Amino acid sequence: MPSPIDIRPIILTGDRTTGPLHLGHYVGSLKSRVALQHSHRQFLLLADTQALTDNADDPDKVRRNVIEVAIDYLAVGIDPALTTICVQSALPALAELTLLYLNFVTVSRLERNPTIKTEIQLRGFERDVPAGFLCYPVAQAADITAFKASVVPVGEDQAPLIEQTNEIVRRLNRQIGREILVEASAMVPKVGRLPGVDGKAKMSKSQGNAIPLSASPDEISSAVRRMYTDPEHLRISDPGKVEGNVVFTYLDAFCEDRAMIDDMKARYRRGGLGDITLKRHLEDVLQALLAPIRERRARFAAEPDYVMEIVRDGTRKARERTEATLAELRNALGLFTLT
Ligand code: TRP
Repeated sequence: MPSPIDIRPIILTGDRTTGPLHLGHYVGSLKSRVALQHSHRQFLLLADTQALTDNADDPDKVRRNVIEVAIDYLAVGIDPALTTICVQSALPALAELTLLYLNFVTVSRLERNPTIKTEIQLRGFERDVPAGFLCYPVAQAADITAFKASVVPVGEDQAPLIEQTNEIVRRLNRQIGREILVEASAMVPKVGRLPGVDGKAKMSKSQGNAIPLSASPDEISSAVRRMYTDPEHLRISDPGKVEGNVVFTYLDAFCEDRAMIDDMKARYRRGGLGDITLKRHLEDVLQALLAPIRERRARFAAEPDYVMEIVRDGTRKARERTEATLAELRNALGLFTLT
């Protein structure tokens, strides 16, 4: 019997395999991916090739983290029966699509991409930016279009990449005279970026201000203890600032009890709520959130063969899908085919 046609919209998103995922990833995307896997056909890309664009000096780290990120996915509740987990470097169609797309993008357009501009600055590449890094938005366009994804859940900082993808889609479809490629829309999470525990803009492993999903109870306590509050809130009775206070930002992101947070904010502003009490509350919330994830993580980590089988299986499925898109495009462009 032929299987019924799957009309669910397609999602493609992924993560660079440069390190284990953290709480910022959890609120920003992992949590919604767990929900979306029921209503969408979801593909998650372990973006090891993209990780190389700024880690060419450490391919070993990139390789090691393929399984770590896969374990993180499974630990938060990504179900391999619903979501296809696959490895970017094992999907050669993505590389070939990238090469084709590069002809439909100008260097100045790449240099103007706001995401790339910021990231070049952050990494201090200046004039020595690797060509692969400058071009990674084109590779990402290949990722998205190869799966014919119409929805791409990404952080706000990645939205310009979706715009660039759609420019490539329109340019190629115009060239071919048919709508082979599908435009995608970014699905940006409602909660903004989670700041690091130090109050710096972004939680990131390289900044040392992140709480990984695998954090032990002690690591969680010490991260919360270090957390930036209001430096002028010295005595319990002093009125304190809620805006810019990382503990409140985290409570807003992770605590379900809105009434309790509102009450705590009011008390903090008025004076009378101490940082220690406030932090103890956040710690309880984070310990409760991370305990089951940590346990599941440990169970998957103890079965690396099982995890790799899931990844291999997903990569095989993804290969079929990406090869099909590539074949369609090669055909449409009239490229030579060896028969
Ligand atoms: N750029 C994403 C990151 O920095 C990873 C990624 C690779 C991605 N390919 C993608 C995200 C395609 C969305 C769609 O983690």
